[in-house]
Amino acid sequence: MDKLIISGPAKLRGEVTISASKNASLPILTATLLSTTPVTFKSLPKLRDVSTLFKLLKNLGATINSDDQNELTTINTTPISSLEATYDLVKTMRASFLVMGPLLARYGKAKVSLPGGCAIGARAIDIHLEALTKMGAKINLQGGYVEATLEHGPKRLQGNEIYLSFPSVGATENLMMAATLAHGTTVIKNAAQEPEIADLGEFLNRMGAKVQGAGSAEVIIEGQESLLFSGSPYVVIPDRIESATYLIAGVMTNSEITIHNINAKHLDAVIATLKDMGAKLEIDYDKKIIKTLLHQGLHGTHVATAPYPGFPTDVQAQLMALTTIAQTPSVITEHIFENRFMHVPELNRMGANIVLKGNSAFIDGQSTLKSAPVMCTDLRASAALVLAALAAEGQSEVCRIYHLDRGYEKIDQKLQTLNVDITRVPGDN
Ligand code: EPZ
Repeated sequence: MDKLIISGPAKLRGEVTISASKNASLPILTATLLSTTPVTFKSLPKLRDVSTLFKLLKNLGATINSDDQNELTTINTTPISSLEATYDLVKTMRASFLVMGPLLARYGKAKVSLPGGCAIGARAIDIHLEALTKMGAKINLQGGYVEATLEHGPKRLQGNEIYLSFPSVGATENLMMAATLAHGTTVIKNAAQEPEIADLGEFLNRMGAKVQGAGSAEVIIEGQESLLFSGSPYVVIPDRIESATYLIAGVMTNSEITIHNINAKHLDAVIATLKDMGAKLEIDYDKKIIKTLLHQGLHGTHVATAPYPGFPTDVQAQLMALTTIAQTPSVITEHIFENRFMHVPELNRMGANIVLKGNSAFIDGQSTLKSAPVMCTDLRASAALVLAALAAEGQSEVCRIYHLDRGYEKIDQKLQTLNVDITRVPGDN
């Protein structure tokens, strides 16, 4: 397993470009299962999770061709030969469960391994299954797999009005995709409103679906007989979590950097929090550019994670790294996942002073972070450790960075272009 050697404290300068969103790409890639024609994408992010999903689609029988020179990827799912997503792939990436909706909608059957938990929580799928049942799916849980069929009754899912008990991102996505080929109209109430949902809706409509309100709390989908992709290659929205991570990198090192391909409209909660803490940002909404400017010091903040447009849970760890060097204390409360504080012991080993009480972290601030060998545990905790290493005095070793490679494209190269002394050391670290 590779590790990163990072020398701090780093002074960043220069420009960086945000890649396409991991959390928009993954559901959109599963949605290609709905298309009777090949789908072409431009500039998909080169991430471990995207490669995992490519492997899953190929296991189902799809063909995937890449033209690296023009950054084009073409996916043809008409030769599907299997309707089963096996445990070995699903266990490495929960988002694999998003093939359930498309397979059920198009083929009337799907067998998908239960995702199981991960480092940050149990990651249940009860809301997904309850919603699909309301559309006529017969769900059978057996041997660690979810088998969904339509065998007893109509050969198509039936549109319905469905209220989600929690605005689950994945459940909203699975349901939207399932509803595109259902008989009749589906109304999803209390839907997740993340920008990635809006992008999935945009992509589905590019394939001839009739989706309205994606990205709002109520999504209406009129079922169609079939879907087919046509026209220019699809470009996925910028990654708002990667964006937040580089914004915090600039603020945490009190550097002036320019970030391109960043959609500030997707970052209201993050930008508001950073400004409240004393960060100085120059935002060009039209050109999708944000510059971090020098600030006069940071004060602490009180943040609670919440479904979009609230403060994103995927930026909680990165914000916590920033609060360790603020001049006054902070409190960060995690409401989305039950175990998303794995970065805390590692940050404390670097000199932070963080105390956990239930789902709240109390951060002293005014820490002088010191370099240390630290270990990644999950994707966003890893990003928090990289940020801390940028601010810490000395050379830090960040181990098990395969977690990072899941969701951050070329993070070492991008930080090198920002003048960071960072080296990736391949091997069993
Ligand atoms: C998506 O996960 C993202 N992943 C996560 O990003 C993100 O943290 C999460 O949404 C919340 O914003 C992708 O988009 C691929 P949820 P998802 O269903 O869909 C509970 C990252 O770092 N829940 O909104 O799994 C669940 O246990 C990843 O990029 C149920 O109880 O999130 C969790 O506590 C991490 N039953 C909460 O809801 C269900 O049926 C949020 O889950 C579904 C969810």
